[in-house]
Amino acid sequence: MQNLKIDGDRLWQSLMELAKIGATEKGGVCRLALTDLDRQGRDLFIRWCKDAGCTISVDPIGNIFARRAGKDNSQPPIVTGSHLDSQPTGGKFDGAYGVLAGLEVIRTLNDLGITTQAPVEVVAWTNEEGSRFSPAMVGSGVYAGVFALDEALAKKDIDNKTMGDELKRIGYAGKDQLSGREVGAYFEAHIEQGPILEAEKKTIGVVTAAQGQRWYEIFVTGQEAHAGPTPMPRRRDALVAASRMVDAVNRIGHKFAPLACATVGFMQVSPNSRNTIPGKVFFTVDFRHPIDATLTQMHEALHAECKVIAEAAKVEVEIKDFWYFAPTPFADDCVNAVRQATTQLGYSHRDIVSGAGHDAVYMAKVAPTGMIFVPCRDGISHNEIEDATPEDLTAGANVLLHAILERAKANP
Ligand code: GLV
Ligand code: MN
Ligand code: MN
Repeated sequence: MQNLKIDGDRLWQSLMELAKIGATEKGGVCRLALTDLDRQGRDLFIRWCKDAGCTISVDPIGNIFARRAGKDNSQPPIVTGSHLDSQPTGGKFDGAYGVLAGLEVIRTLNDLGITTQAPVEVVAWTNEEGSRFSPAMVGSGVYAGVFALDEALAKKDIDNKTMGDELKRIGYAGKDQLSGREVGAYFEAHIEQGPILEAEKKTIGVVTAAQGQRWYEIFVTGQEAHAGPTPMPRRRDALVAASRMVDAVNRIGHKFAPLACATVGFMQVSPNSRNTIPGKVFFTVDFRHPIDATLTQMHEALHAECKVIAEAAKVEVEIKDFWYFAPTPFADDCVNAVRQATTQLGYSHRDIVSGAGHDAVYMAKVAPTGMIFVPCRDGISHNEIEDATPEDLTAGANVLLHAILERAKANP
């Protein structure tokens, strides 16, 4: 068993084939959740899984589970996967790698004629990115019972289309109830999306935890007025106030350095007219830190800074807590299974905390969970130029294979 390897060329070919769906000019992917392109990606994944002999289930939030039977199908499945949706200017590997690495494990088990004791499943989670519909990790969140199904189906995109309607439209409002069952273990392979592994020349990141996140929605209200006759001292400019708040968010990130991250990634200005002083601004904040108490300090700093800025600019500000998850440690036995597989295969490695959110965070609430990271070029992700080498992607999938073999028990 020790020398078993996946087929790295096949994995690479599949990644490149999938990346054609939603391919962008700069070599990336735009495959937003529940669009026609997402449907095409899902259809292709299901076709490949059926070709590999899997049975398919789709749950009511559109998560797709492809199951390879074990010797004892009464045992809880060992599940692996990630997501097929992307950012608007996303790359070829964020999410797609974890799904196709899982499929490659199944194809490898088929080639080698290995039947595991427990069944093995590959899952493609719905709307992980949180870009078209917010927040992130909605499919795994519903599966893990963090979000009520109705609440998730009612989430709207910027054009007021709901997840529920879009799921029906693309034919992925499934009927299979899988949530609540026992899962033996969950593993997710992913590119690191940061610079650490590459800088330290390590092939594998043994992910011990994911940092916590707090997302906010901020509404600033001033007064619309004419850009010409309104003297500067009389203005209640919502955009000027919001810009100072954006700067405050950035300063909070620096203040809690080196581990804090603070981002404003979305803003709407109203009425968005060149010669009207903006009366309303809506923007989002994304705070991250591996220590919960520091996230709380960042939260307090945000409130304090926005209050002072709003008063000085004579505007109102409302800060809504939109989403939160605590820093999440992964299960020791899964982390050890990943570390042991890495060592056994002879790959260089280090322990690492995930900076990104992943479906593994919600799966950790309902199953022993672990993650495997591989380096990505210049640590860049959520960008069309996102890149990773076939060798590193192969190594990560080999680690996944061995972690799954250990948990699904190939040797009775
Ligand atoms: C998911 O991509 C995240 O925001 O971490
Ligand atoms: Mn991802
Ligand atoms: Mn992402």
